[in-house]
Amino acid sequence: PRDIEGDLTEILIDEEQIRARLAELCRVIEKDYAGKDLLLVGVLKGAVMVMADLARELVHPITMDWMAVSSYGSGTQSSGVVRILKDLDTDLHGRNVLIVEDIIDSGLTLSWLLANLKSRGPESVEICALLRKPAAARVDIDVKYLGFDIPNQFVVGYGLDFDERYRNLRSVGVLAPHIYA
Ligand code: PRP
Ligand code: MN
Ligand code: MG
Repeated sequence: PRDIEGDLTEILIDEEQIRARLAELCRVIEKDYAGKDLLLVGVLKGAVMVMADLARELVHPITMDWMAVSSYGSGTQSSGVVRILKDLDTDLHGRNVLIVEDIIDSGLTLSWLLANLKSRGPESVEICALLRKPAAARVDIDVKYLGFDIPNQFVVGYGLDFDERYRNLRSVGVLAPHIYA
């Protein structure tokens, strides 16, 4: 079988860097939410890996729920059109919500999601994102817990896909242009 890492030109952030940064973020989150309930909302499917690792690193009691929204389809460009494919099962009234995302690219997905969740009567809504591409931003997003800023390249791995593949890479890397050209 073909080694999927062979389709990368570069590893941007490796497994250990991700683990260490998530641990740092978890210590801050535990402090910020001390004595409070915390609902983690993962955005399917990209956030699956970061949600699994973040949730297990936290010693804080949490609950988890999931939303599936899509703005990309199979292309490499954000369309800005957000669709709910699966909504939350949880009533957000009075809850402290932390949205967990793999990446903020244009920011259009989170900007829409933030407004949507805030309209449901939560006590608070904040964002935790592993990655952000400042050069790709089309809207300003206030991210309370950020892993890494990265260059504006096509990255895959650790949840991030190209055409649904590469999500299972343990690192975040740059996809070789010949793969998506
Ligand atoms: C990707 C990524 C973020 C979003 C970021 O999801 O996981 O959710 O795009 O892009 P934006 O900041 O430009 O809106 P995608 O829509 O590809 O779905 P997926 O998580 O199922 O891969
Ligand atoms: Mn996503
Ligand atoms: Mg995607």
